[in-house]
Amino acid sequence: MRVKVLCVAGARPNFMKIAPILRAFAANPLFEARLVHTGQHYDDALSKVFFDELKIPRADVNLGIGSGSHAQQTAEIMQSFEPVLAAEQPHVLLVVGDVNSTIACTLVAAKFRLNEAFQTVDGPRDRPLLVHVEAGLRSFDREMPEEINRLLTDSICELLYVSDPAGIDNLKNEGVADKRVAFVGNVMIDTLLAAKERAMQSDILEQNALEEKGFGLVTMHRPSNVDDPETLKDLLGTLDKISHELPLVFPLHPRTKARMEAANITLDESRWKVIPPIGYLDFMKLIATAKVVLTDSGGIQEETTVLGVPCVTMRENTERPVTVDEGTNFLAGIGREKILEGFKYAMTTPPEGRIPRFWDGKSAERIADHIAEQFPKQ
Ligand code: UD1
Repeated sequence: MRVKVLCVAGARPNFMKIAPILRAFAANPLFEARLVHTGQHYDDALSKVFFDELKIPRADVNLGIGSGSHAQQTAEIMQSFEPVLAAEQPHVLLVVGDVNSTIACTLVAAKFRLNEAFQTVDGPRDRPLLVHVEAGLRSFDREMPEEINRLLTDSICELLYVSDPAGIDNLKNEGVADKRVAFVGNVMIDTLLAAKERAMQSDILEQNALEEKGFGLVTMHRPSNVDDPETLKDLLGTLDKISHELPLVFPLHPRTKARMEAANITLDESRWKVIPPIGYLDFMKLIATAKVVLTDSGGIQEETTVLGVPCVTMRENTERPVTVDEGTNFLAGIGREKILEGFKYAMTTPPEGRIPRFWDGKSAERIADHIAEQFPKQ
């Protein structure tokens, strides 16, 4: 029997996670992997460029969902995904990360019965085996849509692959049996390590007349930071203060762009380089050559840790504590004083930190090997 795995990706942060997983499945003849793109992100700059640069095979199925409220988006993905499951009849459903596509597809598959049962080492079953990659992350902030997605996805998935050691404790505390959990490291770092050399060839610095370690890199898109005009103004005001000391480069997420336009906020072009969202290789080059990164992203906290670049995280919490405990991340919150303190520290102190265990480029292989163990030897 070949094990058919249906993999799901929907939004920008999913693409760099699914790339090495698809490669690991392709390298093992036991598996036949298929890819579903939900279409949650559809702009070339948020989707196609990642497929091209990371050599992700074209999706076998594209649901073409697009934007909407959380309920609309989640519901539409669910409705469109059910017939795909019926047509594909996968033995395994694999989801990554914490976006709406992640929970939507998991929830459908959790109640889905296949036409034919198949054997696993735990006996026969007639539902796809549900696998979550990047399981166990918790910000303990239920105001965050991703936290809800993470909690629900982990509670119904059966194999939980953990990237941050804190995830093991979080899942234990939620009563998840040890047998369901495996610490495999970080698939996003598989992608980073595989692409690093190519990324360093990027000419993004020349294109923008930037000098190595002569600029700060800003990203901001989290609804809690950008949706309320006052919070957005405050945060950009703090960053503007920083821009007097260090020019800032700011690739603008569409959500943030829309909110800035609505609130009539502009940034002084002599100190800010506001650019459209950029591809993976250019972005990794920007991180690696920035003096400091100021962000509210999840994944960037991990990428700065691996690239040894100071990161000031403009959030009150992080679901990725290993980046603070072992890496280069400073959790600043959104208050002016703490952000300025983090910035000053980054400017004056050489970055210190080590690379967390198993963030070594082999996480996807560990996942494929572990999934293979769930099936009887042939
Ligand atoms: C989503 C994820 C978030 C992730 C982020 C990365 C959820 C709940 N959130 O948030 O975890 O960090 O992706 O970007 O899944 N838009 C475009 N083009 C696109 C897609 C979106 O212009 O291709 C615009 C639309 O106006 C849309 C807005 O961006 O309404 C937000 O997109 P959405 O997918 O709802 O959430 P993100 O904020 O991107």
